[in-house]
Order: sequence, then C-alpha cells, then structure tokens
Amino acid sequence: MTTIESVLNETRVFQPSSDFSQRANIPDIKTYQVLCKEAEQDYLGFWAKQARNHIIWHQPFTSILDNHEPPFYKWFSDGVLNVSYNCLDRHLSTQADKVAIIFESDSGEVTKTTYEELHRQVCQFANALKNQNITKGDRVIIYMPMRTEAVVAMQACARIGAIHSVVFGGFSAKSLHERIVDAGAVAIITADEQVRGSKHNPLKDTVDQALNMGDTDSVKHVIVYRRTGAAVSFNSDRDVWWHEIVQQQSVDCEPEWVSSEHPLFTLYTSGSTGKPKGVQHSSGGYLLGAKLSMQWIFDYHSSDIFWCTADVGWITGHSYVAYGPLAMGATQVIFEGIPTYPTPGRFWEIIQKHRVTTFYTAPTAIRSLIKLGADLPARYDLSSLRLLGSVGEPINPEAWMWFYEKVGQSRCPIVDTWWQTETGSHMIAPIPGAFPLKPGSCTMPLPGIVAAIVDEAGHDVEQGKGGFLVIKKPFPSQLRTLWGDPDRFRNTYFPKDIGNGQYYLAGDSAYRDKDGYFWIMGRIDDVLNVSGHRLGTMEIESALVAHPSVAEAAVVGKPHAIKGEAVVAFVVLKGAYPTGDTVTEMINLLRDWVAKEIGPIAKPEEIRFGENLPKTRSGKIMRRLLRTLARGEEITQDISTLENPAVLEQLKKNAG
Ligand code: WT7
Repeated sequence: MTTIESVLNETRVFQPSSDFSQRANIPDIKTYQVLCKEAEQDYLGFWAKQARNHIIWHQPFTSILDNHEPPFYKWFSDGVLNVSYNCLDRHLSTQADKVAIIFESDSGEVTKTTYEELHRQVCQFANALKNQNITKGDRVIIYMPMRTEAVVAMQACARIGAIHSVVFGGFSAKSLHERIVDAGAVAIITADEQVRGSKHNPLKDTVDQALNMGDTDSVKHVIVYRRTGAAVSFNSDRDVWWHEIVQQQSVDCEPEWVSSEHPLFTLYTSGSTGKPKGVQHSSGGYLLGAKLSMQWIFDYHSSDIFWCTADVGWITGHSYVAYGPLAMGATQVIFEGIPTYPTPGRFWEIIQKHRVTTFYTAPTAIRSLIKLGADLPARYDLSSLRLLGSVGEPINPEAWMWFYEKVGQSRCPIVDTWWQTETGSHMIAPIPGAFPLKPGSCTMPLPGIVAAIVDEAGHDVEQGKGGFLVIKKPFPSQLRTLWGDPDRFRNTYFPKDIGNGQYYLAGDSAYRDKDGYFWIMGRIDDVLNVSGHRLGTMEIESALVAHPSVAEAAVVGKPHAIKGEAVVAFVVLKGAYPTGDTVTEMINLLRDWVAKEIGPIAKPEEIRFGENLPKTRSGKIMRRLLRTLARGEEITQDISTLENPAVLEQLKKNAG
C-alpha cells in the first residue's frame, strides 16, 4: 500500500449555520450518532424500520435480509410494492396540485407538470406500452433527451414492471447497439432529435443505425417522441409515434405489484476490462436508498425547489431526478440544455428564475462555470439557495471554495456525495445540518453504511493511511448483480482475497483523517473519470484498435483543469510511423473514430504515436510509465526491464 499516498493537506473547516441546523431533518451530530448506534446495535431492525416508514408496501415484508447465497443479497424480498405508485399515486390525496416538474427547454420555454398531471401522463404511457405487448420483466431501452418525457418513460416502465435501461443520448450507435443486444431489449423509446445548446442530435437516426448492426431481432417496437418535427425514416412494422399511441389511452393504470427484489432497471457502466457492465438494481431497496438520502443528505423540505443537473442517462439522473425527488413529493427543475447556452449565466438564470433551493451538480461543471465567469453568479439573485451538492469525482478545494463563497454566498452547506452507479444512492456524504465541512472531503458514511478502508488482506488500515474503500455489510440500495453475468459481479465487487469475499469493493482508494473523515483518492482500477463520467481504458483501446490503421493502443489518464481527468492515447500504427501533416490528419481521424465508436465523451484529448509501446520483456505494457509520459513528468521508474527503451523518446513528444 506504499503507493497509495495522499498529497492533499486541507485544514479549513466550515460549520453549518445555526439557521440551517435549526430547521434541518438531522439538526446535530448527536442525532446522527443515535441513528448510527441504532444501526450498529440492530442492523436489520434499523433497515426494516426505515423501509416500513418510507415505502408504501402493497404487501408488507417479513424477510428483511436474505443472505443465503452471498453476495446475492435480497432485501425485503417477500414485500410487494410498485415504485411508480410510491412516486406518484401516494401524493395524489395530499398534494395532487403541487408542481412535480418545472421543465425548462433548451430555448427557455417553461412547462410545469403537477403530480396529478404527471400521474396521468405516466398512466397513459404505461397503458400504451402494455398495448404494445410490453410486460413485466421485459427490457426497454430509453434513449431520450433530458425532458419530462424521459421521466415519464422511466416511471411508466416501473409502473408495468418492465426493466428500463437508459442509454445516455451522447452515446454512439455502436455503444447503443451493444447495450440493446446485451439487454435483449424488446422496445426502444427515443425521440426524433435531441436539442442542446441549439445543436440537434438525431437520436432516431442513431437508433436506426444501431438496429441495422445485427442481433437486434428482440426489438419489436421503437416508440418515437416528436421533439423537433425533423424528418425521420419510419419503419411502419416497428416504429410508432409517442403522441399517437397515448391517444385514447385511459388515464388510470393499475400498477403491476412486484416483489421488492424485482429489477427496476439496469444501467450500463464501464469497468476495467471488457464490455460495459449492466448494473442491475432492485425495486424496494433501491427506492429506499434514493428516498432516505433525499431526506438526510439533501435535507428535503416540502418548500424546496430541487435541481439536480445530471442527465437521466447516468445513475445520478436516476436516483435524484427520476426517483428520489418524486418519491419525496418534491418540486424539481429539469433542464434540457447546457450551462453555456445562450449565455454563460444560464445556470444562474435558472436558479434565479425558479427560486431553486437545492442545487446538485458535478465538479467538472463547477470548474467550467468558474472559467466562464468567476464573477457571473454575483449578477444574479441566488438568495433562494440553501444547499449545494457535488458528485462524480473528488472536488478540488479551490472549486469547493468558489462554489461555497460565490454561489452559496457562504450561507449554504455543500454536500460532497460519494457513491457509484453500483451503490444506487449516497454512501458517504455530509449531513448538512450536523457536520462541519472540510473542502474536498465527502466526510462520513450515512447511518447504516459500514464503510471502511482496508489493505490487500482486508484488514483495516491505520488512520491517515491510504487503502481500498470497502463497504463491509450489505445495504438495501446496492446492485444485485450484473445483467447476465453473475460471475463477473462476484469477482469484481466481492473478491475472495479482500475480506474473504465479504466486503463490497468500491474500486476507489481513500484514507481517513483524525476526525474520521473520508478523503477519496482515486480509482484503483483502469477506469478513468472524465468530466464525472466513467470510461474504461480498455474500451477506448478496443475502439482504437478497431480502426484498420491501428496496430496497438494504450490509454491512460492525465490531470485536466476542467475535466478532472483527460484521455491520452499512445498508438502504434500498422503502416509507417507518421510524420509531418499525416500526424495531425491521423490524430483527427482517430479522435473522430473514437467519438463514433463510443461517443464524443471518450474522444482522446491527446494522441501520441510510437513505433512501439513500452513493454516489459514478458510483453506487458508499462502503464505506469505511460502515465508519467502523459503527465510530462521526469521518468523515475526502473526502465531496465524495458524491452525497447528507444521508443520512449518518440512517445515523449506531444503529438496532439
Ligand atoms: C465513481 C463512480 C455517483 C454518481 C456519479 C458517478 C467517483 C463519485 C465522488 C465524490 C470522489 C467520487 C468515484 C466512484 N466519485 N462521487 N463525491 N468524491 N469521487 O457515478 O459513474 O458510477 O462513478 O465516481 O471514483 O467510484 P459512477
């Protein structure tokens, strides 16, 4: 573990204001400790109580945790519920007229949808899905713009027990195809186009391309939402218009009552090897995590206007757009566009216009907003804000301070939330009315979450020492398996050698300081975090070598001021080592190629060519050495075992 060392030394501490604490759901550290103690003394009793308080069960559960077959844990498994019922119907008798969604389009039109109206739309669309013979357990791909309709589509799937798998609109036809095939999807819900920053992205065209790549016979229906009215090709055997199929549908739809363990959705995410993993979540346990964290971490109050800027294509957009806020009965903002269009103050304008109280975004967005205009927030009325949140990667203290002072006007706590696609909801995050904050630390675990830092043998490391971040006990919102690949699930997350297969291995390294605060240090695997998005280096390498001119490729990350991490690719071409103009030509060609293979988010920032890659005599690519080269640092590693030292000179040159 000597290689895991922290360089950060942050000593500032920020106390929550008494104003904030006084009306907080958890007003002080003692209340937090009482909850933790409760969980410690009676783990199952603690979770059962939360599940009974927060979820409306159609049939109550008697089994709390079934651990007969670890790590395939089941929670509340004889309980029966419907997630959509818990997000919509439950509010109809108490707050039918409350606005659920304030939608703002790319060009600024605002549409408000009440709980009653959202319920109606979800029911009609759910009935339309049933009418297409989509039933419980069927997989449905959702490839949609960031609009109310995306949430309607997800909630409608949940209502009928279909398992949705949302694919981010920025993914390419090939990435979409891979997910369609892996999921064995029966239907795809999409739109003619997506509009962001006035740019049109032809989603339906991309779906058509994906469906022409073979092995997609499972797909019987493509449902198309008309966003722009752009001409799209229509296959009348397969394609239907959203607005046509909902016509005449009843505004009531009896929910499909499912077991707590029924899969609510799968969501694909990158790992260190092979193809993306279909992370499979449950219904009851997942919903509980999303709802509890709304209450504890976002300190939800009924007067809040909640805004999470994440796209529904990522887990954040599932837990804190499509499910958590609705389960809570919140009013939330959904924004179709981008922070810079039509003005660099768009985010601040939205906060001002809709009186947003809770603003949750990513460090990469914060850094680019600083770059766009560090003083811009001062020109807007941000007095409605009371809580800020950050997610996706470690937030650097400079960005934290700016967010705190310029956006929150030193009044709003920042919740730096550590969690993952796999954990479903927040795991380590501040309780904002209770915890003193330290810029850059996600602070301490939620009550009932047994997070720890261990060494290779699974033993707790000393305070201040880096190690593997694990969660020692199963928790309700954790992933249940990887779609179609239980072995990979077990081997990746519950490895035998660490804690004897008992611990959930997160894939991050971290350390704890003297106050018990967690500091995340980074990934321990070959996963990059570019603008808060996970990218497997293997995926990008496979995309590169799929190009006919590429013989070999290795991809590493290097620090980037805005994106957090940037992709650097080292490439060996099949033909001659490129020189002169061919270098730039090849770079542009390969960058576009990767965008086409995976999606623009995976485009390498830099590409360098060599006649070879640095390898050990046994043929292993020396990735650590490549990382040093990518960062332009002095080589201090032992290169005596290097098969081909001359190649280093070529690769040192920045070709991109
Ligand atoms: C990885 C999970 C969780 C939703 C968005 C990303 C990194 C996430 C933090 C944070 C430091 C963080 C970790 C984690 N990460 N949040 N607050 N501080 N690192 O979900 O794509 O599943 O990525 O993002 O490395 O393992 P994801």
